[in-house]
Amino acid sequence: MFETFEMAPPDSILGLTDAFKKDPNPNKINLSVGVYKNAAGSTPILRCVKEAERRLLEEEQTKGYLGIDGLPEFGRLACELLLTAGHEALTSGRIVSLQTPGGTGALRVAADFLKQNLPTASVWVSKPTWANHPNIFQAADRKVETYQYINAAGTTLDFDAMLQALNRIPAGDVVLLHGCCHNPTGVDPTADQWQQIADVLHDRKLLPLIDFAYQGFGKGIDEDAAGLRTVIRPGTEALICSSFSKNFGLYSERVGALTIVASTTDAAQAALSHAKISVRTNYSNPPQHGGAIVAKVLGDAELRGLWEEELAEMRGRIHDMRTLFVETMKQKAPQHDFSFIADQCGMFSFSGLTPVQVDELKSKHSVYIVTSGGRINVAGMTAENMDRLCSAIASVL
Ligand code: LMR
Repeated sequence: MFETFEMAPPDSILGLTDAFKKDPNPNKINLSVGVYKNAAGSTPILRCVKEAERRLLEEEQTKGYLGIDGLPEFGRLACELLLTAGHEALTSGRIVSLQTPGGTGALRVAADFLKQNLPTASVWVSKPTWANHPNIFQAADRKVETYQYINAAGTTLDFDAMLQALNRIPAGDVVLLHGCCHNPTGVDPTADQWQQIADVLHDRKLLPLIDFAYQGFGKGIDEDAAGLRTVIRPGTEALICSSFSKNFGLYSERVGALTIVASTTDAAQAALSHAKISVRTNYSNPPQHGGAIVAKVLGDAELRGLWEEELAEMRGRIHDMRTLFVETMKQKAPQHDFSFIADQCGMFSFSGLTPVQVDELKSKHSVYIVTSGGRINVAGMTAENMDRLCSAIASVL
């Protein structure tokens, strides 16, 4: 049967890494997939993770199955990281969290949960959004619509257009928001804009689905959660898909969480029982190792302190690379203004390079960035590759 199949297109992000790996150029630069690199250009295992793994290896007694929703300790700590330990949603018990295989796993479980339980609700995503968002929801037969987000130049938030669009979404639909470090633009709403977004969601009875994959990569652990905490008002409902790939460097361990905030404890338990059906029919129950690492680090004062230090180091380096990129581009192509990159947040920015320029970067300079909007992974830049990178960009402009 398979003889009749034609090749499917490569993934718009991960496909580029496959192409990068095959590129023989020793000076190639991969700024496509969102993976953090240190100053030496490698993606190290965090020290807190290594120590947690050492302790786990000593203590672990069994490889028996976890529950469908994963490690209970992981779930509790994941909720606390999102909202803080004393938050009313936690103390009243109207929040539940399931350990999932990565943030993508959380999104897919959420998509199936919506399909089963809110079958007529469309999912509204920002324009633009992470390329995999529409694919995940469409794979679960969800209708995906878009709301305006970025200005025409791709450099700042068009908040009036966004708010107008949100105000037209029918009650009962789902609005996907990026909790911080918007992927792919690096442009986030301000605190005041989050208040207004929360008002619209509340007034129009829209269900927020917050994709939160970069907590700690923007301004800080609590600062990055401020928008999400604005949305979670007393009694409000939400779905939150968080990831520990980036902030713990646990990419290959696939560890994330689907958190459900309901209006009451009973409603939270009922929602959890339905989410568990989605998990059971997808992958039965989550893998243990990554979740156990996160729980070990977050639950131990010493390891948590070390994690916060290491996370601050990654955040600081990304910030420095933004500044250095803008300065270097000023020298290489003074007629082009890239200063907006320094104002943006997290791993990604839209460079504004056209698909033709992106192609030329790849074919002539072995520099790999995502075609749509010319998305650049700033966290992949280093002081060592900056000159080469900016010269290549200047030559295709
Ligand atoms: C990205 O946008 O590059 C990351 O979220 C990784 C991925 O899976 O696409």
